Amino acid sequence: MITLEQLQVRVQDLGLDKLSGDVTRQLEEFKKMPALYRLALNELENKIETLKTEWKMRNGYSPIEHIKCRIKEPASILEKIKRKGHEFSYENMENYIHDIAGMRIVCAFVKDIYQLADHFAGREDIRVIEVKDYIAHPKPNGYQSLHLIVAVPLILLEGTRWVKAEIQLRTLAMDFWASMEHILYYKYDSQLPPHVADELKSAARAADELDQKMLRLRKEILELTASEVD
Ligand code: GTP
Ligand code: MG
Repeated sequence: MITLEQLQVRVQDLGLDKLSGDVTRQLEEFKKMPALYRLALNELENKIETLKTEWKMRNGYSPIEHIKCRIKEPASILEKIKRKGHEFSYENMENYIHDIAGMRIVCAFVKDIYQLADHFAGREDIRVIEVKDYIAHPKPNGYQSLHLIVAVPLILLEGTRWVKAEIQLRTLAMDFWASMEHILYYKYDSQLPPHVADELKSAARAADELDQKMLRLRKEILELTASEVD
């Protein structure tokens, strides 16, 4: 765990020490921050686990294959504030860095992703603040996922605080591509040679085709099952 002193040095290294207001107060808030986001992420994880179990009881299968949670490292939060051109302050961090708490939900089928997103939108204990649909509109490199920025209520002694989190929803095939691409190239500084970028994009299309093929097979198997019952 990073100490307050180490953080202060990191802030200076990044040139973020020309802060307005009370630097120590800001840094102390910043130190408390991971605990707050961790609690919010735990709450969100519990909600998803409940949903997963209930869905399985009702429909015999769960649309959620697995969930992964992470809290952004303080150093990368500082770097991101700087990259986005904001001055370091607790308020700026809360307002502009939406992925301090991050959750990735991996589903079997694309339709499960949209069904889950609709479900979240209808809940009172989850506020959907922003939707980025990289499934309908993949990134130029081929990246596909549905990104939601949500807020969840955290009931504290001081009252209710809505804490933001980023939820990335993907199929298994999209997750395979994104994980491999991350290992290979994500945030690679230079321009990729065109043939490499093309192959990467064609691998993303292959993942997409695999998703569609699995969906067709599922439909067929469901029809077979239904006709056996008849
Ligand atoms: P960041 O500053 O990188 O957070 O981008 P952003 O705030 O504009 O959000 P965006 O929705 O583009 O990306 C958020 C997150 O999605 C990233 O932190 C990654 O986890 C993931 N992501 C986005 N683009 C890619 C990509 O091309 N490849 C992989 N592997 N992951 C990506
Ligand atoms: Mg991000």
